[in-house]
Amino acid sequence: MGYNIAIDGPSGAGKSTIAKLVAKEKGFVYVDTGAMYRGLAIHFMKKGIKPGETDKIVSACEDAEVSIGYENGSQQIYLNNENITAMLRDEAVGSMASMSSGIPEVRAKLLELQRNLAREKDVVMDGRDIGTHVLPDADVKVYLTASVETRAKRRYKELLEKGIACEYDEIARDIEERDARDMSREIAPLKKAEDAVLVDSSDMGIEEVVAKIVELCR
Ligand code: DC
Repeated sequence: MGYNIAIDGPSGAGKSTIAKLVAKEKGFVYVDTGAMYRGLAIHFMKKGIKPGETDKIVSACEDAEVSIGYENGSQQIYLNNENITAMLRDEAVGSMASMSSGIPEVRAKLLELQRNLAREKDVVMDGRDIGTHVLPDADVKVYLTASVETRAKRRYKELLEKGIACEYDEIARDIEERDARDMSREIAPLKKAEDAVLVDSSDMGIEEVVAKIVELCR
């Protein structure tokens, strides 16, 4: 069993930025489980399936193989051996991932992949249900959150920097909707594990959050 750090929390809390830096500092492998859900979402979208079409999603799971690799230390996601990493961050892919991740067959598809990675390697794994469900015995568990306002502002800035036109109000609404969906689904909902340390990054700098998590590993 590797040394396992689980970081869960809502979208936009800075999980991936923080988890990557913690992994770098510790010399661990970073595993972004949201990217795996996004990878499957791309598979469903390629087949023309709409978010509500549960039966089609369930049967489409049968011919999807999601795998993970690393190029120069950065995580790559493969869907049936095709590298689809560049497509993962699309908003539509995020919505499809959020909606399809409530389906048990979709979660089952990725669970073993996630557990095997943690068994073989020292990992920093981020997601929604890592501390509660995927790695209940993780050595360190963190629930990383930030206010809706902070998260919406960060996302707004990020999109503007990329030259993507957007409305702040719309972003804040999307974040609230995504939170509600991720937290209310029946299977493996987003929630803080009892033994996870709550870190609210609203008024913390990135380095401060990283240092806090590294400290928890001591
Ligand atoms: O972290 P992210 O935005 O890339 O994740 C996309 C969606 O995938 C998220 O809205 C919910 C789902 N997800 C999940 O259900 N469980 C995880 N461990 C990670 C992501």
